[in-house]
Amino acid sequence: MNIEEIKEEYLSEIEKANSLDEVNEIKNKYLSKKGKVSELMGKMKDIVADKKASYGQAVNTLKTFISDHLDSIKDNLETKALNEKLERETIDVTMPGKNYSAATKHPLNKLVDDISEVFVGLGYKVAEGPEVEKDLYNFEMLNLPKDHPARDMQDTFYVDVNTLLRTHTSPVQARTMEASSKDEPIRIICPGKVFRKDDDATHSHQFMQMEGLVIGKNVTMSDLKGTLDYFMKQVFGQDKTIRFRSSYFPFTEPSVEVDVSCTSCGGKGCNLCKGSGWMEILGAGMVHPNVLRMSGFDPEVYQGFAFGIGLDRIIMLQYGIDDIKRIYTNDLRFLNQFRRD
Ligand code: PHE
Repeated sequence: MNIEEIKEEYLSEIEKANSLDEVNEIKNKYLSKKGKVSELMGKMKDIVADKKASYGQAVNTLKTFISDHLDSIKDNLETKALNEKLERETIDVTMPGKNYSAATKHPLNKLVDDISEVFVGLGYKVAEGPEVEKDLYNFEMLNLPKDHPARDMQDTFYVDVNTLLRTHTSPVQARTMEASSKDEPIRIICPGKVFRKDDDATHSHQFMQMEGLVIGKNVTMSDLKGTLDYFMKQVFGQDKTIRFRSSYFPFTEPSVEVDVSCTSCGGKGCNLCKGSGWMEILGAGMVHPNVLRMSGFDPEVYQGFAFGIGLDRIIMLQYGIDDIKRIYTNDLRFLNQFRRD
């Protein structure tokens, strides 16, 4: 083929090319070292001497032509590809957005927040303690030595003989008293997970409590009563009354169970309170002198009161939840019922 024929062939091929790949292939075919243009150069030896110069020039002209032509074709294709991409990726600002719904507070956390707010307003600090606890803090420093029969009511999961999943939030009492400077009053609440070997509709191996502890000079049972009355009215409503029933806890003396008038019937008796008119909410009492002494407080100088609120019970009663496990299994059909939006 001569120069003209190669040019014709190139032009007809490039006309059909419509992708960068095809264009590159053609470039290879004509302009690479073994390409058609090089082949033409190779024929120089067959050209008669006085035509060599003009032949060489003609081949070079073809080479420049093809090279420039390919560049402009490439440019066009690239611009076209870019335009198509831009076209595809335009944003329709009028399209409706995706609807992300915000999560809602778990009823248990809402209760913790509501109660905390009341006590923080009274000057209490929020304290925390470990869920994997030493026997020492969970029992011994609360006046429950190793062989104490009241330990039976709080069987739990042991990590080893001296380490267990805490059965109540009361160990935070012992830890706080032990760590205190002993010459300043203590006012703490402690919400947290607790664990027991329990399993029925109202008891689960995991549940939530909120501990309260006040230590100071001249703290009396009437302070306990006044504090709990105020707290119940703030959380459950001003029309509520409380009732003390005597009880027993090894770490308080005297000890009481505290009930609030039923949040549903107000005390007349209904399904929720099983006709009694009262809801059992917490255990409480005056801190036992042994407990004070073990944590370094002189019971002749300091007194205190403590209480432990069962939080699951409260929301079960308030919302009519039939099984405590619903609180912990994260079923959206359950959780979505507490949405406020
Ligand atoms: N820790 C007790 C329980 O879990 C409750 C309690 C706390 C009682 C503080 C008295 C004082 O049963």
